[in-house]
Amino acid sequence: MAQRKVCVKVPASTANLGPGFDVLGMALNLYAWIEMSTAEQTKIELVGDQLTGIPTDKTNLIYTVAQQVFDKAGVSIPELHIAMYSEIPLTRGLGSSASAIVGALLAANALVDHALDKQTLFEMATAIETHPDNVGASLYGGIVVTHWDGERAQVLRIEPPKQLEVLVAVPDFQLSTEKAREVLPHLFSMQETVNNIGYSSLLVAALAGGHLQMIRHAMKDGLHQPFRSGLIPGMTKILREATEHGALGVALSGAGPTLLALVDRASHQKQQLEQFLLDTLRSEGVNAALHWLEPDLQGAHELTGYDQNSTLFANIQHEVRK
Ligand code: HSE
Repeated sequence: MAQRKVCVKVPASTANLGPGFDVLGMALNLYAWIEMSTAEQTKIELVGDQLTGIPTDKTNLIYTVAQQVFDKAGVSIPELHIAMYSEIPLTRGLGSSASAIVGALLAANALVDHALDKQTLFEMATAIETHPDNVGASLYGGIVVTHWDGERAQVLRIEPPKQLEVLVAVPDFQLSTEKAREVLPHLFSMQETVNNIGYSSLLVAALAGGHLQMIRHAMKDGLHQPFRSGLIPGMTKILREATEHGALGVALSGAGPTLLALVDRASHQKQQLEQFLLDTLRSEGVNAALHWLEPDLQGAHELTGYDQNSTLFANIQHEVRK
């Protein structure tokens, strides 16, 4: 068993990509870092504004997820030192809880000398999160196509097209996934189902083949977005009109409230798109922060060359967003 401190870096993620409800995901270059080591007495330190309000006792998600790894690996490590720093806004649809779960699994697995393989970690993450789209993206990086039948989880990774950039508008209010799932119907007609299979399949083919102009036709959805629009003022107009202002396609990011536009890196309409998103949200009384992001290609990984004698923040300060 490793006595050293381990540190993992985990990307944020966007789920669904419009039509791929609970199936498609993409990793994004906002990160969470989790440091973990065995200890005499459990201590959990959360660094940075994004983590305010999260418990620091043994009910902490990272602690409880780590214990699941130890149980499965057949070892007992009841006391841990955990430190976390995150750039990922909480409860906004950018996979903050998925990144914590994936980070906890990876860090704990490193402490037990990688007793569990990646597929096992993915299945554990899926069972904890209850859908595989965010955790798959955070774990594998890139774009992921996933499926979970309640027991086994599958994932295939697609390399994102190089021309793809991402603009997110993060509203200044939180929306829990639970609330955003409560508004969804449980039954759909055959025609509605076929439509979404068509959009989702077309989107996967467009992203896998780099057919950027197809994204605007494919990034549409009838399974969740129309029902969630009442929770996010301005969303309906943004979904309807963003492609006229330079987006290749636009979707609700995960369960929201963040809105996500895919953009061609070479687009001359980037400012116009920024203005459109901000104006539309503002006209509904919603303030939002815009971030230009990139797909993360690497997925969650352990940092090498970690200075064991320094703090988490001292180790990572050269790479965090200012
Ligand atoms: N696929 C999920 C949803 C992602 O849309 O509810 C949220 O975590």
